[in-house]
Amino acid sequence: MKSRLVEEFTRRLGRPPALLIRSPGRVNLIGEHTDYNDGFVLPMAIDRAVWIALRPRPDAHVRVHSLDFCQTAEFDLGCLQKGGSGWAEYLKGVAAAMQEDGFPLRGWEGVLSGDVPIGAGLSSSAALEMAAARAFAAVAGLPWEAAGMARLCQRAENRWVGVRCGIMDPMVCGCARAGHALFLDCRSLEAAAVPLPPATVVAVLDTTTRRGLADSAYNERRAQCEAVAKLFGQRALRDLTEAMFQEFAAQLDTVSRRRARHVITENSRTVQAADAMRQGDAEELGRLMNASHESLREDFEVSSPELDAMVECARAAPGCLGARMTGAGFGGCAVALVRAGAAEEFFAFVAAAYCRRTCLKPQLYLCRAANGAEVIA
Ligand code: GLA
Repeated sequence: MKSRLVEEFTRRLGRPPALLIRSPGRVNLIGEHTDYNDGFVLPMAIDRAVWIALRPRPDAHVRVHSLDFCQTAEFDLGCLQKGGSGWAEYLKGVAAAMQEDGFPLRGWEGVLSGDVPIGAGLSSSAALEMAAARAFAAVAGLPWEAAGMARLCQRAENRWVGVRCGIMDPMVCGCARAGHALFLDCRSLEAAAVPLPPATVVAVLDTTTRRGLADSAYNERRAQCEAVAKLFGQRALRDLTEAMFQEFAAQLDTVSRRRARHVITENSRTVQAADAMRQGDAEELGRLMNASHESLREDFEVSSPELDAMVECARAAPGCLGARMTGAGFGGCAVALVRAGAAEEFFAFVAAAYCRRTCLKPQLYLCRAANGAEVIA
């Protein structure tokens, strides 16, 4: 990826790039639909990323060519306007948010490419936004503060792109450390790197189905969670203790009870999962991942027949310690924790079993935990 980008940059602009930016996608190990409830998440950045090769310009113009879309986008930092729905909107949204916050930006030109599958739930959009933020910051010589930039990118996605996502994706994309997952408190943004259990690998299992009504269902889940928190007089579901919930659960309607139960139990599973990782307890982490899937399927109701099929195939495969859907749900990917020695057999088994079950050909990736967004050169 890196050498292809440098080559393309050199071919198009006549000399090698001044800067190279790498910004990873992510997979969430556990802590699903908890970020917008001010709760805990445990994602890791993956070794698939958005890359930008660039050089500063003396003016306020930005000109970027996307190798993946075979498109060039151009805009002026002095008059940013929403102009469509494509990849360039993410760059403009980030630039606008940075300028709103008083960062003095400068123009640049470059080439962009990535290998985070788009729309698969591996956070290709946060990867692109954080890549843009890293690029603008580097070109303007601004200090890099990953958590602050993550908040800014979340705002850009909420306001400019119009998607109501939480803080998990840009945070892990910005703050991750290679070989580790990121245990993140989504209220305080306190983040701790926790090591992956020894002798295990993380498998990302793409069902190749995409979430249809996902945005409306996602917003509906958020609204349901907010309503229950309000009912209990709490700022967010994060503040609802198990005891408080148990005392009043019978008075809630079935849907509210299920949604709240998922968030409360998922938060505690996520805290336990981080502890298990610190102790190198892969079995316990796998068990918690399995329980998370059940909760997402039964109580939060965001799984799908294909995700359930994938999770079942994974659990039946050699070396599997645990498997669950990952990301917003309704389609996209599952994640599994697998004994390193059995990885090859695991992948072969899952590919065949899932295909038999669904008549779909899955995309399966072995992912290594990568560093957050960085300037490579
Ligand atoms: C999407 C959002 C995240 C998070 C997950 C569910 O990926 O972008 O902020 O809410 O769904 O855990």
